[in-house]
Amino acid sequence: MSQCVLHVVGARPNFMKMAPVVKALWQEPGGYEHLLVHTGQHYDEHLNDSIFRDLGLRAPDIHLGSGSGSHAEQTGRIMLAFERLVQERKPSLVLVAGDVNSTLACSVVAAKASVPVAHLEAGLRSGDWTMPEEINRIVTDRLARLHLTPSPDGDENLLREGADPAGIVRVGNCMIDSVSSHVEKARAGGALTRFGVKRQGYALATLHRPSNVDDSARLTRLISVLSSIARKLPVLFPVHPRTRARLEAAQIFAAELELKGLLLSEPLGYLDFLQLQEAAMVVMTDSGGVQEETTVLGVPCLTVRDNTERPITITQGTNKLVGSNPDVLPGEVDEVLAGRGKRGAIPELWDGKAGQRSAAAIRKFLGSS
Ligand code: UD1
Repeated sequence: MSQCVLHVVGARPNFMKMAPVVKALWQEPGGYEHLLVHTGQHYDEHLNDSIFRDLGLRAPDIHLGSGSGSHAEQTGRIMLAFERLVQERKPSLVLVAGDVNSTLACSVVAAKASVPVAHLEAGLRSGDWTMPEEINRIVTDRLARLHLTPSPDGDENLLREGADPAGIVRVGNCMIDSVSSHVEKARAGGALTRFGVKRQGYALATLHRPSNVDDSARLTRLISVLSSIARKLPVLFPVHPRTRARLEAAQIFAAELELKGLLLSEPLGYLDFLQLQEAAMVVMTDSGGVQEETTVLGVPCLTVRDNTERPITITQGTNKLVGSNPDVLPGEVDEVLAGRGKRGAIPELWDGKAGQRSAAAIRKFLGSS
């Protein structure tokens, strides 16, 4: 059996990060077989297949089919399946991305099998231990031997936590590579017509963090604030499966929201969502990736959280942290409508070449280990 590297993806944001790296390694494999492994954490057509198609990413080489359930169930199932795979394939390296449960599960398995772990998007910290993603980031970074970081704060966090400086390589932002290579095609798409909105004539909202959607009183308040904004400006709201389930549990139904002017949809494909971000007047979100994408697209972003693991989108980009109180949102949207939305610059190394730099760092690591 040839020597191989396992590239792990599990949930939607992993796909956009991993695609540029794995594609670069498929082109120039450096003597290794590069296998794309899908844990199955996200399985819906909307969160999975359609995103793969839009990214031009071939179907995973290996599918573990270990989705859904509580954190422990999901993590445990992925660990069991990934351990069998590691025993069978004996990889030379496992590459994981971001901060989802699949990232944590596969890092733990690889490290215990003495297989080196490389972490793409290493070093980000929100400082908020109530977020499952923060725990996933910290554990993964502690176990990783190669840290591929998107921005200087990532390097600083890792050094402060005692990581080996020789294992830290600042490669830039791979998620932005995917934006750069798809934005032209996205612009030519039909999403604006389909939703009946005009460039700069609407707001786009996404909410799925447990802290925003799991508490029904808080979710109800957020929805009522979005409805009040929709009286001034159409609000497009693609609804994540977690949020849809919580809306139903809180007895908030789509038909009612549509009467209030919110334009609801299923989670969108990558190209449709990119087009809607690029042409939006303002974006309201609790997603990590959207904070970065709006920064490079130059669109004001209001982040409905108390903290962010992506501070560079605030210090340099178009992101503003508005906090967890939704009542401030209408005033913030008014500021944007009055032309006082946050402007920004594109951070260094968010240049569409992070995938190439990551692939080079991985080849070098494999050559030296
Ligand atoms: C996960 C990630 C989060 C990321 C988000 C993007 C973790 C801890 N969280 O959150 O960082 O921003 O993905 O989408 O890994 N479900 C479906 N279909 C699917 C997947 C999920 O219906 O394809 C439902 C299930 O009921 C599931 C719930 O959504 O229990 C939540 O999914 P899960 O993968 O656990 O976490 P996300 O909230 O999607």
